[in-house]
Amino acid sequence: MATIRKAVFPVAGLGTRFLPATKASPKEMLPVVDKPLIQYAVEEAEAAGVEQMVFITGRNKRSIEDHFDKAYELEMELEAGGKQKLLKIVQGVLPAHVSCIYLRQAEALGLGHAVLCAQPVIGDEPFAVILADDLIQGEANGVIAQMAEVYERFGCSVLGVEEVPHQETNKYGIVATEAGPDGELRVTSIVEKPAPAEAPSNLAVVGRYLLTPRIFDKLAATQAGAGGEIQLTDGIAALLAEEPVIAHPFKGKRYDCGSKLGYLEAQVELGLQHPELGAPFAAYLKTLTID
Ligand code: G1P
Repeated sequence: MATIRKAVFPVAGLGTRFLPATKASPKEMLPVVDKPLIQYAVEEAEAAGVEQMVFITGRNKRSIEDHFDKAYELEMELEAGGKQKLLKIVQGVLPAHVSCIYLRQAEALGLGHAVLCAQPVIGDEPFAVILADDLIQGEANGVIAQMAEVYERFGCSVLGVEEVPHQETNKYGIVATEAGPDGELRVTSIVEKPAPAEAPSNLAVVGRYLLTPRIFDKLAATQAGAGGEIQLTDGIAALLAEEPVIAHPFKGKRYDCGSKLGYLEAQVELGLQHPELGAPFAAYLKTLTID
């Protein structure tokens, strides 16, 4: 049995950076080539052995539930039309052994609050948190699987991290680390979105966390921090006082699909990797003259 059985997907955000695209539909449903962002995230969790997907939703998020639900009429139409390939794609969105739970976060009080909302279904076990707007093509079975291996070795919380340009520290949770006895990177401090001059390093937390359930006590006691929100980063800072936390520089490539530029980069690169579209798309791109 996998060590990490449950993953939390905070999807209640308003997605204001992508307006008007996100006026009536969730940002997590924005497609990259032919799959919505949230499906990439769920597939990454599933590749790590996660069987229970816990979505923290809000208003306007119904299409996420519909996406992972059975689509009877559509399946019947595809079946009747002999469209077996498409039928398989539709039925494969969620494997039979995986279940979904939806919890509403009534007020957008911050990422830490969203994670705290999951406590009743997570209970007393370690769990993953995945932010779907960081789309990561991780080596091997993906970043969460890489982090699960670290958890199995050390038995403590693990944060997915990546070096970012110094001038961008104010967009991320930033960690300071020191080498542990087994070559692991131990987090010594963590701060939410520090200005470059105050940042303890340029090692940024990306949208991947494996957390011990002790985080819930810490989040319950966390006051609003940066941006007036209850920050997951502040909960982790409190956890650090009691438990070790390890930073895992993941192997793979991240696309910041929370920004328009990162989203466009993901479209181009995943478009080029697509088994059917890759070659004609590359040929098209070569016809463009860009100065
Ligand atoms: C959130 C977290 C931040 C983290 C980032 C990763 O920020 O608060 O610590 O580094 O995700 O994408 P957001 O991007 O939601 O502002």
